[in-house]
Amino acid sequence: MPEISSDGPAGGRPQSPAPLRLPDDRQLVLRVMPMPADANGNGDIFGGWIMAQVDLAGAVLPARIAKGRIATVAVNEFVFKQPVSIGDLLSFYAKVERIGRTSITVNVEVYAERNPADLHVVKVTEANLTYVAIDLEGKPRQIPRS
Ligand SMILES: CC(C)(COP(=O)(O)OP(=O)(O)OC[C@H]1O[C@@H](n2cnc3c(N)ncnc32)[C@H](O)[C@@H]1OP(=O)(O)O)[C@@H](O)C(=O)NCCC(=O)NCCS
Repeated sequence: MPEISSDGPAGGRPQSPAPLRLPDDRQLVLRVMPMPADANGNGDIFGGWIMAQVDLAGAVLPARIAKGRIATVAVNEFVFKQPVSIGDLLSFYAKVERIGRTSITVNVEVYAERNPADLHVVKVTEANLTYVAIDLEGKPRQIPRS
């Protein structure tokens, strides 16, 4: 497991002195590499593309727990800590924060691996999302407890 840091690459992007490690209290729920069509003219990836991936990644654990249809009811917090570039390999780590009567809240952290020849990993995004278990009519249903 590579050592990672929350600082950006050289060239004026934000720096953090404290090295981090990949999370071991979370589940890897998605890995994806953005393509040029997902970027703006500067080569940075659109925030909306990242939000869509986070929504997909965040749904993995709630869908398993809810054992059926779920819908995103809220994005409670979303922070873009560092820009994402074409060629970054993104890993999405999720942790269930709360299971309510019909809803499940998840925290998702996104890490970018860049420059495979001299691997550098940075935390780029963090978000909290809430999903609701729904029935066939789209109405909230109770989360199964077993
Ligand atoms: C999800 C949906 C079925 C919920 O229906 P609702 O009548 O609003 O449901 P309720 O008010 O009973 O809330 C259901 C649960 O969501 C939670 N919730 C509702 N709004 C919330 C919010 N803004 N933040 C966090 N949790 C929220 C409630 O606390 C409740 O959780 P609990 O039962 O665990 O206590 C309905 O809002 C919906 O269909 N939304 C559109 C979903 C969708 O299309 N998502 C894709 C993105 S466009």
